[in-house]
Amino acid sequence: MCGIMGYVGERDAAEVLLDGLRRLEYRGYDSAGIAVACDGRIEVRKTAGKLSRLAELLRKEPVRGTVGIGHTRWATHGQPTDTNAHPHADESGRFVVIHNGIIENFLPLREELERRGHVFRSDTDTEVLAHLIEEEYRGELAEATRRAIQRARGAYALVAMCADEPGRVVAVRMISPLVIGFGEGEMLLASDIPALLPYTREVLVVEDGEMAVLTKEGAHLYRLDGTPVERARMYVTWNAEQAERGGFPHFMLKEIFEQPRALTETMMGRVGPDGRIALEDVHFPDGFPEELEKIWITACGTAYHAGLVGRVLFERLLRLPVEVDYAHELRYRDPVIGPHTLTVAISQSGETADTLAAARLCRARRSRVLAITNVVGSTLSREADDILYTRAGPEIAVASTKAYLAMLVAQVLLALYLGERRGGLDPKVRTELVHELQRLPARVQEILDAHEEIVGLARRLCEAEHMYFIGRGLDYAVAMEGSLKLKEISYLHSEAMPAGELKHGTLALVTHGTPVVVVLTQHDVYEKTVSGLQEVKARGGYVIAVAYADDEHIAKHADTVLRIPRTHDLLSPVLAIVPLQLLAYYVARERGHDIDQPRNLAKSVTVE
Ligand code: M6R
Repeated sequence: MCGIMGYVGERDAAEVLLDGLRRLEYRGYDSAGIAVACDGRIEVRKTAGKLSRLAELLRKEPVRGTVGIGHTRWATHGQPTDTNAHPHADESGRFVVIHNGIIENFLPLREELERRGHVFRSDTDTEVLAHLIEEEYRGELAEATRRAIQRARGAYALVAMCADEPGRVVAVRMISPLVIGFGEGEMLLASDIPALLPYTREVLVVEDGEMAVLTKEGAHLYRLDGTPVERARMYVTWNAEQAERGGFPHFMLKEIFEQPRALTETMMGRVGPDGRIALEDVHFPDGFPEELEKIWITACGTAYHAGLVGRVLFERLLRLPVEVDYAHELRYRDPVIGPHTLTVAISQSGETADTLAAARLCRARRSRVLAITNVVGSTLSREADDILYTRAGPEIAVASTKAYLAMLVAQVLLALYLGERRGGLDPKVRTELVHELQRLPARVQEILDAHEEIVGLARRLCEAEHMYFIGRGLDYAVAMEGSLKLKEISYLHSEAMPAGELKHGTLALVTHGTPVVVVLTQHDVYEKTVSGLQEVKARGGYVIAVAYADDEHIAKHADTVLRIPRTHDLLSPVLAIVPLQLLAYYVARERGHDIDQPRNLAKSVTVE
């Protein structure tokens, strides 16, 4: 996820672009840049770091012109450095592009272009687009762009400029968002509406597979085969703050709804047509996967809960012993760890102090450290031997949602990858998992489409004083995360435990009406979990089950059932947590709390 901005008009383009990028900074903030057409050339200013650094650079080296494009980056390919910041240009500097999203086949494209003599400056996937457009240019930027993108695969939004056509900006949408703003004698373009609002409220959303050509007189919209598109403009009534959240009342809800995309992007380019897994930043030495004796997962909070899922995945698929430790515990233990152990350090931010310390300890004991993180260039990613980036985009709400789902999928990819390298993974299981993995985004979407059903339940539960979450195996891991989500934003006391543990003490707290969430997706322990559920019912507890849509038995036992689409049992956490995230959200809303910034908490805990 990155922020894109374009301007064609009479004002100082640099000023408009910078202002728009400020409103898009929530989409990415590791580097930023602008390109402005002036005196027959395109001037680029870009830098690593937040927008304030770009503003500083522009004060020292101003650019004057009335047409330009701007970008605030959330890195996916290449570290957040000055060189990797957008815009990117071809060698001549006449063709300049910015882009949001992923070009899946950028490596073969880059190799092909290099063979033809193109010289690349950055490590990004974006730069191939500038060179492709340059190769295809025969005097019309729109045509060249259309031809160039026919060779690129992926999900992206692209904006291009050419020094020879200074009054024109060309944009293409392939899945990643793009909105056109219609001003008085000026036209704008952005990844999201907030950037446009100071200039206009008349907008038009570019749809997938469409190209827009902007001049200061207006915008022309085409399908990629060149057919013109006519669509009515919309009038935006949101204020700037609402618009930044995409019309959602909170970032948390917006991020919950971004989960299908987060999953798609985390898998993009990593699952081949033959089901083989490619992990671009994992470089295990020859023999390492085969000689692996143990996996040690370490993390905190939600990332630790993702690790609980990873434990079951790695054990089942790789038949290797796996430990999961809170990073703040591991760092003060004296773990028996060595060169045949793979440490998997999981952290959305890649900056959690305890996780960094635990990873350093493991590395000092000669364990190879693989980071699963959402932030390219974070400390964890820089210090790790291998990196598996989740591509959830910036997560703003303190309560982690989309990053958690992406961590789960990242671990499935890692397990399949290691399984391929080590051999011994049942090909039938592998095929089933790959097949089901690719269906997860659509299945998450199904749950989200039915979100209103959870509002009524949340109203019923919002007065509760305590709540319990139980499950076995993977369902226990989901129960842990469901409980954390609820307590951190609703301040309702809740506890999670393995379903079999309830009767060893906590059952004493279950009385008439006590809400107990039971997660029931694992067929091998289903009957056992139902017994636990009956213990709750027998004490008058109010049972909320999370179960598959085709589970015909559960309605007999539970007071309320939150249904999820059926999937492979090993993937069920990706779906089972979604209704619980929504439940936490709606309970907190009923209780009137500050959902995005709950009391006493911070997004990243960078101190011990
Ligand atoms: O950035 P990290 O993933 O390392 O953060 C770890 C925890 O602080 C984080 O998951 C925290 O538990 C979230 N607020 C949970 O929603």
